[in-house]
Amino acid sequence: MTNDKNRVIIFDTTLRDGEQSPGCSMTLNEKLRVAEALEHLGVDVIEAGFAIASNGDFDAISQISQLLKNTSVCSLSRASFKDIDRAAEALKKAVRPRIHTFISTSPLHMEHKLQMTPEEVIGRIHDSVSYARNLCDDVEWSCEDGTRTEEDFLYRSIEVAIKAGATTINVPDTVGYTTPDEYEIMMRKIIENVPNSDKAIFSTHCHNDLGLAVANSIAAVQGGARQVECTINGIGERAGNAALEEIIMAFRTRQDALPYHTNIVTENITKTSRLVSSVTGLEVQHNKAIVGANAFAHESGIHQDGMLKNAETYEIMTPESVGLKKSELVMGKHSGRHAFKEKLKDLGYDLGDNEFMSAFTRFKDLADVKKTLYDDDIIAIVDEDRRDNEH
Ligand code: KIV
Ligand code: ZN
Repeated sequence: MTNDKNRVIIFDTTLRDGEQSPGCSMTLNEKLRVAEALEHLGVDVIEAGFAIASNGDFDAISQISQLLKNTSVCSLSRASFKDIDRAAEALKKAVRPRIHTFISTSPLHMEHKLQMTPEEVIGRIHDSVSYARNLCDDVEWSCEDGTRTEEDFLYRSIEVAIKAGATTINVPDTVGYTTPDEYEIMMRKIIENVPNSDKAIFSTHCHNDLGLAVANSIAAVQGGARQVECTINGIGERAGNAALEEIIMAFRTRQDALPYHTNIVTENITKTSRLVSSVTGLEVQHNKAIVGANAFAHESGIHQDGMLKNAETYEIMTPESVGLKKSELVMGKHSGRHAFKEKLKDLGYDLGDNEFMSAFTRFKDLADVKKTLYDDDIIAIVDEDRRDNEH
């Protein structure tokens, strides 16, 4: 049974924050392909770009808006009328447009980056959100550097944004500074203390500077957030954003502890990850959770033996659930007899006991000097062994 109180909106920012990863920019065609894949994946909102940043971003948002039929399309904009106008213009043809406007609220950002007083920032929040709301029914407001913002000022800023018409309030951990406990409490206290908090959906947006983006995002959901902003493969500024696939599979795998549900078709995760990796040229690290090349690969003999008896011994989710055909038993020096026998069977060999032991010994010797043994290596071992034994 799904419980709507626990429905989490997935806001994908691969095409905006993800594209801000150094060296990750995508062409218009590539963005259209990724947007289509994200729609098939079942994300609720696609942040397609930052309309005022460049003509390329504007065109991408505008064409993605025309392409997508179900998913909300969003453009980022600073807290200025010019930015907001450009965002609204780019989103004109979207079935479900969303304007996402933001301003910094931390003392550090207000003083050094914006060079504005807190009162000026409050005025700007009111003016920008009201202006956006006159152009679009779906307005998200973000307090940039939210996790380093002074508590009372944060509450006041959010109250003003909600009053001005924001329907989603995003509290970003812009510099990846917070910790799970702290962020969960922060989210809970915001929802408890800000007047009219029930009029908005609260959102998390985490960066991975300390490797905590996924844990922090999940903690925020436990604290009451019902939108998660994330990217495919966790790409994004500096160390990246929270990885969509990790959050989704944590929800799916640990429903007992994390009873949240989304619209994501998890079977489409692998192909979406591969598409994003190929268009950005950013290879996924092999040991990356869910989508890394080793995520469903087993080399140790003990693990391979367990896997062959019952996959649940060493896998907490099935490869099929993320769109892979099967797990991989990698042939290397840690592999044991059981996996070697299965591999031979796959390759069409049925060896007698002596022949098997002789081939297995050769396999172990070769594995000591070669990191991974491929099918061709195994075939060569058996053939050589047969030849030697004939003489
Ligand atoms: O990290 C951040 O604060 C952002 C905002 C613009 C939402 O990306
Ligand atoms: Zn960000």
